[in-house]
Amino acid sequence: MSTVSILTVDGPSGVGKGTVARIMSQKKGWHLLDSGAIYRAFALAVDARGIDVSDESALEKIAQTLDLEFKTEEDSELVSVYLDGKDVSKVLRTEKTGEMASKIASIGVVRAALLHRQQAFAKEPGLVADGRDMGTVVFADAPFKVFLTASADERANRRLKQLQNQGSEGIISQILADVVARDERDSSRKHSPLKPAKDALTIDTTELSIDEVITKVMTLMEK
Ligand code: DC
Repeated sequence: MSTVSILTVDGPSGVGKGTVARIMSQKKGWHLLDSGAIYRAFALAVDARGIDVSDESALEKIAQTLDLEFKTEEDSELVSVYLDGKDVSKVLRTEKTGEMASKIASIGVVRAALLHRQQAFAKEPGLVADGRDMGTVVFADAPFKVFLTASADERANRRLKQLQNQGSEGIISQILADVVARDERDSSRKHSPLKPAKDALTIDTTELSIDEVITKVMTLMEK
């Protein structure tokens, strides 16, 4: 059991977990774990090595030896992700990589092999961890847990805006279909499915601004 203070932020894709987790880690001065980035990088490594996803021992080996580094760029709040020494931050965030990650994350041996890598982020003075099973499995003893939700339409709209801000384009009907398919896969899988921990505060963010969500999380932590 970890004695480090931990805030877990779980929820479906596109709900704003990453933004909430980043702001909370800055406010508290705590470390940050973007567990989705680990699954995404793992999926990229498997793809690059041409591994068959039914070869569980090969998957396990890659998970154990994954050369992955998170670097906060100087004078920026951006975290770059390096896989095998190469900056993969851009390709990591694509829908295609998210889809691959969601598929590979349903495999039990993959989740087990990546568990300790995630738990190793729990260091003083504290940790904010975002993902799907942070409050239910990886940091089940965490004292502070939130589960964010929002309607699928709202999450697809947020994703479209995010793409547009990055200078990319997207088709709303396609984004919505992707969001719904990914939710279904992440929620219905056998191992560590997406669901709120029993002791998590669920916040429906559909009608809330980021500031309003942060205020709710801060209130929970001050209680
Ligand atoms: O949070 P994200 O979109 O970066 O995550 C990508 C995929 O990785 C997500 O669809 C399911 C998987 N994932 C997971 O299974 N468990 C986590 N804790 C984080 C992500």
